[in-house]
Amino acid sequence: MTSTLPARARCFSGIQPSGAVHIGNDLGAIRNYVALQDRFESIYCIVDFHALTSTHDPEAMRQRTREMAAALLALGLDPARCTLFVQSHRPEVTELMWLFTTVTPVGWLQRTPTYKEKRANQPDDLNHGLLTYPVLQAADIVLYKASVVPVGKDQAAHLELSREIVRAFNSRYGETFPEPQAVYTEAPVVLGTDGVKKMSKSVGNTIPVFAPEDEIRRTIMGMVTDTLRIRRTDPGHPERCNVCQLHRFYGDDYEEIWEGERTARTGCVDTKKLLAERLLRHYAPARERYAELMAHPATLDAILEEGADRLKPIVDATMAEVRAKMGLR
Ligand code: TYM
Repeated sequence: MTSTLPARARCFSGIQPSGAVHIGNDLGAIRNYVALQDRFESIYCIVDFHALTSTHDPEAMRQRTREMAAALLALGLDPARCTLFVQSHRPEVTELMWLFTTVTPVGWLQRTPTYKEKRANQPDDLNHGLLTYPVLQAADIVLYKASVVPVGKDQAAHLELSREIVRAFNSRYGETFPEPQAVYTEAPVVLGTDGVKKMSKSVGNTIPVFAPEDEIRRTIMGMVTDTLRIRRTDPGHPERCNVCQLHRFYGDDYEEIWEGERTARTGCVDTKKLLAERLLRHYAPARERYAELMAHPATLDAILEEGADRLKPIVDATMAEVRAKMGLR
């Protein structure tokens, strides 16, 4: 998909500092952040403004923002090849968001699946930010005139809304922003440990990347596998088994694992044990880097500050153009 884009296109993505990074984040999005940093001018953002719609604890916000920065760097973002920053360090995005709200019909926002989900999940905290959330996301992306957006499939509706907001703005005020395109990995939807729902912090079915080893092992050993299989000797359904499916990404013998499960040659416990070992081996270098980075908070803070500073000229140029087009200056 990215082969049709101009080489100088800008890439942007955001991730909420709302909990520990899990393998759904990595397989569904972060792998692509890392891969695309050499192909495009890439900007990655820890979206603390967005996270405020569900987290109201200032200490947790500060801590998780640092943890997210350490996690992204440990997994392969390189400040020499991309820009990493915190959303609230470039607060101009909130001005652009306001301007975008004036071209966004409320009905578009009320129909967003994530808003409907949040309405059901946090009825006691149905704040206005939850409704406006996708407008801020559109502003995030186009403040940098980015057109390439690596995300998981759960963000498809938000991306479509961003495109609609861009069209609404461009048709009213003249061609200003490119329409952003989502870019997916080979694992656009990673299922959780329950084997049914999307892996998600809010569902609580995640496999965290940087948790202690025994916690990761315990989580994997507790995964729901093939629910149709009753006895060890029954032939399995590896296509439905999330444990088997995850082996695709942590080894090179998926077909063998598939066959072992299909013919009941290998049992669920063995397949899970193997997955835990492979996953820990795969993430061992990142886990080491993460511990080092977390031991040097001042270095992390400096990387994030530098990232926000680097973006100022782009932001100033976009905002000057938008204000002029809207008759504000
Ligand atoms: P967030 O923080 O929920 O998730 C970060 C990224 O991880 C992907 N992801 C998954 N991919 C596959 N399978 C899963 N189970 C899974 N869980 C999470 C998400 O799709 C996402 O790419 N609204 C965004 C943050 C955002 C943003 C933006 C993204 C704010 N502004 C601008 C792109 C561009 C969010 O809540 O992601």
